[in-house]
Amino acid sequence: MPESSAKYDEDTARSTERAYLTPEITQQRMATLQALALRYGQRVLDIGVGPGLLAQDMALLVGATGKVIGIDNAAAMVGIARKRCADLPQVKVDSGEAQKLEFPQHHFDAVVCTQVLLYVTEVEQALAEMRRVLKPGGRAVIVETDWNGLVLSSNFPDLTEIMIQSWDAEVASPNLPPVLQPMLKNAGFGGISVSAIPVIVASCVRGNYAHSMIQQLSHCAVKQGRVTETEARKWKEDLYQKHRDDAFFYCINRFLFTASAF
Ligand SMILES: C[S@@+](CC[C@H](N)C(=O)[O-])C[C@H]1O[C@@H](n2cnc3c(N)ncnc32)[C@H](O)[C@@H]1O
Repeated sequence: MPESSAKYDEDTARSTERAYLTPEITQQRMATLQALALRYGQRVLDIGVGPGLLAQDMALLVGATGKVIGIDNAAAMVGIARKRCADLPQVKVDSGEAQKLEFPQHHFDAVVCTQVLLYVTEVEQALAEMRRVLKPGGRAVIVETDWNGLVLSSNFPDLTEIMIQSWDAEVASPNLPPVLQPMLKNAGFGGISVSAIPVIVASCVRGNYAHSMIQQLSHCAVKQGRVTETEARKWKEDLYQKHRDDAFFYCINRFLFTASAF
């Protein structure tokens, strides 16, 4: 796989923004903010800033004397995040790569990286970079998903399995959570804790998080030739019908890691 596969173009960036504005993902953002425990005047780096929703929230917490730097390797995302944070002078958004941070060492009080490392091949390098730019005692918060844990109410579990395999093949590091703790230790972090944030979605409507993921999974499976268009439609129609019958169920755990730079 390329270093950062599944690059975000304008359309996927916009649909991610829509999905990330939903209550389920907003709740994840609230948990991330709580774990960061930012204080007024602090300097924080958001790696893979995406649509800038977290950056915007963090800016209010660090205030006018603080600084939020967001980096992303997708131009479409940089554009969306810049626009969102245009009225917040303490926010700066630039192009950048998680594996090669263009900042001096010990520069930040906190570093946050949510739903980004799955796209990164050189995860060890990205963690080493986070450690390098953090001040001693600084805090890293990482949120990642293991798609093997997807629970979905489908009449076609075999197709669901193929969809998950297709997504795993699409991204560079799809199953990080079970191995992230030792990787953080090796990168020089301590005081590591992990908690799960269940994302439970009981409806499947255009624009919501579950609908968006179902589209992405089936798109990958068709593109990779693992299922036909007809099979993908059958899988999706069953899920939409479940929604109409008030029987839709989608749950995936996000894993939130907090670690300190020693
Ligand atoms: C699923 S989105 C998450 C966005 C944001 N962190 C959030 O939780 O709202 C993943 C983001 O990571 C970015 N990304 C992927 N690989 C990257 C890399 N190697 N360096 C920087 N950004 C990357 C993508 O462009 C995308 O904006």
